[in-house]
Amino acid sequence: MRIDILTCLPKLLDSPFSDSILKRAQEKGLAEVCVHDLRDFSNNKHKKVDDYAFGGGAGMVMTIQPIADCIAHLKEQRTYDAILYMTPDGEKFEQNTANELSLLQNIIILCGHYKGVDERIREKYIDREISIGDFVLSGGELAAAVVSDAIIRLIPGVLSDETSALTDSFQDGLLAPPVYTRPAEYQGMKVPEVLLSGHAKNIEEWRFQEAVRRTKKRRPDLLTE
Ligand code: ADE
Repeated sequence: MRIDILTCLPKLLDSPFSDSILKRAQEKGLAEVCVHDLRDFSNNKHKKVDDYAFGGGAGMVMTIQPIADCIAHLKEQRTYDAILYMTPDGEKFEQNTANELSLLQNIIILCGHYKGVDERIREKYIDREISIGDFVLSGGELAAAVVSDAIIRLIPGVLSDETSALTDSFQDGLLAPPVYTRPAEYQGMKVPEVLLSGHAKNIEEWRFQEAVRRTKKRRPDLLTE
């Protein structure tokens, strides 16, 4: 899978993709993440990518030209399955969204900044507008990193234990059960006996019951949907 991220602040995306699972996914050739600086596509002599909002008001608006030219440049090289726009007024990003997007080959993610992008970009180019939650970030970059991480870790072969993505919270509509590691006892705090028993069926049943208990307590909304 290839993800092209369009931003006017590319440095913000340096570190999320240069460590751990996302780095290894790229090294293994399972994912390719390309970050594009919209300023490189600006026809403005000062490489501006924003302008004042028509009608007035505080905040700048990202202009059409650099975004349109960057998208055209990318589309000349390959076809894209979807162009996403990160924005707090988009559909809420959930595990299901990540599952769906992880099946695509090539996607573009446009990061909004300032007051956002000229509405005509949204109308003409964007297939899906995505919010990572009901709060406002200073830009779409961190949101794009969150979405990319959630997608890439689902690509087969990215996680070393392939089944582990299936046991994540939300994959079966439940939160994940508690986990423990050595030592079996620490300052009087003991690991539940069943996990030390070696009895696979009992362990599976315990984990399921704990997942249900935790979900009822913390996220009852997940059980009623
Ligand atoms: N840009 C700013 N806030 C955002 C959010 N909550 N989700 C996605 N993109 C954003």
